Amino acid sequence: MIKKQRLMGRRVFLFSLGTLASLAAVATGNKLRHLNNSLQALDNEERDFTVIGEATLRDRAAAKKLIYGAASDYRYLSIAPQFAASFAQECGMLVPENDLKWKTLRPTPESFNFTQGDWLAKFAFDHNMLFRGHTLVWHEALPPWFKDTVNSQNALGILLKHIETVVGHYAGKIHSWDVVNEVILPKDGRSDGLRNTPWLQLLGPDYIDIAFRAAAKADPQALLIYNDYGLDYDTPEHEAKRVAVLNLLKRLKSMGTPIHAFGMQAHLQGHETRFNPKKLKAFLQEVANLGLKILITEMDVTDQKLPLDAKVRDRIIAGAYEDYLSAVLDEPAVIAVLTWGLSDRYTWLSEFKSRGDKAPIRTLPLDEQLKRKLAWNAIARAFDKASEREV
Ligand code: XIL
Repeated sequence: MIKKQRLMGRRVFLFSLGTLASLAAVATGNKLRHLNNSLQALDNEERDFTVIGEATLRDRAAAKKLIYGAASDYRYLSIAPQFAASFAQECGMLVPENDLKWKTLRPTPESFNFTQGDWLAKFAFDHNMLFRGHTLVWHEALPPWFKDTVNSQNALGILLKHIETVVGHYAGKIHSWDVVNEVILPKDGRSDGLRNTPWLQLLGPDYIDIAFRAAAKADPQALLIYNDYGLDYDTPEHEAKRVAVLNLLKRLKSMGTPIHAFGMQAHLQGHETRFNPKKLKAFLQEVANLGLKILITEMDVTDQKLPLDAKVRDRIIAGAYEDYLSAVLDEPAVIAVLTWGLSDRYTWLSEFKSRGDKAPIRTLPLDEQLKRKLAWNAIARAFDKASEREV
């Protein structure tokens, strides 16, 4: 009897495994077919990406009183002269990709190391570029000593000392600071939408306001920014995040927090079809209605799920850049467009969003040889079409 039951159980088990496997195969097949269909819809061979003239992105943006710039690391700009030359040509603003994060600036709790940051600040100054600060409060890139050293007794002092010292060091030399980065995550389940970060655990929700006030005191001239990602598409997740970010910005404004602008990271997905310019523009308008400027701060487009053919990939990616930028530049409060890197030779996505087929990725305006790609044309076209900003 027992044996029979066991046998039956095993049969049901095996049957279920078989059913699950075939269901999974069907689901994967459907998913692939769906992806192929939507990629076909995204790729338009006829789409025109022509650009008039040879002017750089920096100059095209400046013609509309906009800023174009990009992020880079000290380790790239300092060792690759041709890359550095292209960077200085194309960019009106430099954003240190990692060199002003805690991990780089704070070798020990007592010391600050500005070597790399200062090298970048000088590079920007020497090439007549604006310089931007990224970032003072983030749950990532914290130094190894952080966990064992910082506790609820000393956290406020350590945060204030960091902001005073770092913002003070660059005061008068910096256009803007990402004071607080990525603190909204509705998935964490809090009614205020805040992400459950070390800073929240140590200081409670006030740390955001505290950080802005400290930054304003240390540099009254810099534009102070809240910066976040995952706000671009017409999906329930992005919608929830847009709502929570707006609530945070409203709360800060009503408390009199010295916040001046919102940074929209814009890490886009080349294969994503749920782009809704109307909803995106409505969101930006609500941000602008709070009296805030808007910067597109970390734009790139991943090609992770796009076909291997470089021509197809370049077209889809360029389409994503142009569609997105045409929509956001319709909002007059948008004052800057910054890409997260300039050339495919140096992009974080090679590590974070590499391709299954191991092909080199093609996500930025310039290719690995520093040649302009269709993505460059797309950005240039969006600047050429944009209306002039009021300064
Ligand atoms: C990334 C850098 O590009 C990488 O080099 C580093 O390893 C991890 O951080 N959002 C941000 C940026 O605000 O600071 C991140 O930069 C990318 C996502």
